[in-house]
Amino acid sequence: MEDLKKEIEKRRTFAIISHPDAGKTTLTEKFLLYGGAINLAGSVKGKATARHAVSDWMEIEKQRGISVTSSVLQFHYGDYCINILDTPGHQDFSEDTYRTLMAADSAVMVIDASKGVEAQTRKLFKVCAMRHIPIFTFINKMDRDAMDTFELLDNVEKELGIETTPVNWPIGSGKHFKGVYDVEQKNVLTFADTEKGTKEGKSEALSEETEIVAYIGAEAWENLNEELELLSGAGATFDLEKVRAGELTPVFFGSALTNFGVEFFLKHYLAMALPPTPRTSAGEPVDPVTHGFSAFVFKIQANMNKAHRDRIAFMRICSGKFEADKNVKHVQSGREMRLSQPQQLMADERRVIEEAYAGDIIGVFDPGLFSIGDTIEAPEENVRYEGIPTFAPEHFARVRQLDTMKRKQFVKGVTQIAQEGAIQIFQEYNSGMEEIIVGVVGVLQFDVLKFRLENEYNVEIRLENLPYEHIRWIENWREIDVEKLSGTSDMKKVVDMKGNPLLLFVNAWSVGMTLDRNENLVLSEFSRNEI
Ligand code: G4P
Repeated sequence: MEDLKKEIEKRRTFAIISHPDAGKTTLTEKFLLYGGAINLAGSVKGKATARHAVSDWMEIEKQRGISVTSSVLQFHYGDYCINILDTPGHQDFSEDTYRTLMAADSAVMVIDASKGVEAQTRKLFKVCAMRHIPIFTFINKMDRDAMDTFELLDNVEKELGIETTPVNWPIGSGKHFKGVYDVEQKNVLTFADTEKGTKEGKSEALSEETEIVAYIGAEAWENLNEELELLSGAGATFDLEKVRAGELTPVFFGSALTNFGVEFFLKHYLAMALPPTPRTSAGEPVDPVTHGFSAFVFKIQANMNKAHRDRIAFMRICSGKFEADKNVKHVQSGREMRLSQPQQLMADERRVIEEAYAGDIIGVFDPGLFSIGDTIEAPEENVRYEGIPTFAPEHFARVRQLDTMKRKQFVKGVTQIAQEGAIQIFQEYNSGMEEIIVGVVGVLQFDVLKFRLENEYNVEIRLENLPYEHIRWIENWREIDVEKLSGTSDMKKVVDMKGNPLLLFVNAWSVGMTLDRNENLVLSEFSRNEI
């Protein structure tokens, strides 16, 4: 038990979030570099290639040069074992990202210093806030001209509604970037560009005023003192409890590309973030150490290797130790089995593993049994994790296969892709699978659907966009007569994969109108992914 406790307490599992181009990939690579997991010195010029190897799997990602799916990486730093859940940056792939956030214990938010909070960050942040997980902010690209520091902090506070507490404070930016002031140690860390792949930064810590003035100049020193004084009057004081409750975000300034501030961040992050905390099952916390093995599926990815038509289910271990040679129970089907080909991603290689601990993410071969949100556990355990919410799609299209002879492949393809959670499928109310309506969170998913049906299932389709933008699940459908609902003329009744009826609307006004006309109707914006 002591060994198990030690292993679990070493774990830190975070999701890294940002708007595209803020520097998430670069920062992740630098973390791996400091952890000794990759030798970046040899791969600097092949950054694009390295990036594909690390996190991009699917054909479409390569073609479009974007990261569509999320990946998981594990590395060691000192005594810690760190799991990074990479999230797709492209705005169209937000639903996958939302689910990934469910598997993390904290989030690292990367912000471009010249841009501040951007649209995508805002959305992701909402999910973190919903879960009250700690959020650590890394303001990147200080080697480029940045927004005013107070403005940046104000921007984070206003846009995201969270208090900020700078752990270090930048001295200049762009060509005039001199380094950062360490608020706790009260010294200046000099900026050194160590981009060229050497691990040991040449940054120095200056604590004497004379040294600092000699390095940054009298004017910058005066400015710095003024800013720090302002900060002590205006900024929130550091409070670890608030950080851990997700109410206060520690802010770090740095430049991932030049390796500046990356290790500083990592050290502070590790000191502040908690090891795996208990998850809830039927309202009760499940202790990560004292409970036996339990995990939940947060992501399913099919056809990572086209030749093998494989389907991988990613699960987050919530308690205990996973051992590859022991049987586990799939709670939703009641079946006992041995998980096949359990694997973990370590920097740029996939490797088969024998064991893993609470906090870790493992991928297993899925025979078509698992769904998102399912619980897997040791046969003698009896927990059942809450499902992962299904987010409301915002774009809808009617989809038809061009060759009517391929009906079977078509239905199989859309159903499997929907099981992975990449799209949601609906049918017309009372009509069966004749007409399939697809709903997605981001429009690019329509392209992914078309591409994958052609490539993986050999089915060509035509998509006809529908004008609906709002979807509502009928919470109390068992108590009311759905047939008799009196809605607006633009309202459409459909059913989801599990047979739940729902309503589609063109605008928000119609939603309100329908609620007004049907006194007992209870609508909800998302469905809990219960079985
Ligand atoms: P993302 O994953 O958040 O989308 O961002 P990514 O790391 O791919 O970085 C986006 C661009 O910003 C890259 O340039 C990267 O080199 C650059 N970048 C990242 N961190 C810093 C930094 O601290 N300072 C500066 N100046 N630039 C930074 P690119 O030209 O788009 O790609 P590449 O040609 O370098 O691969």
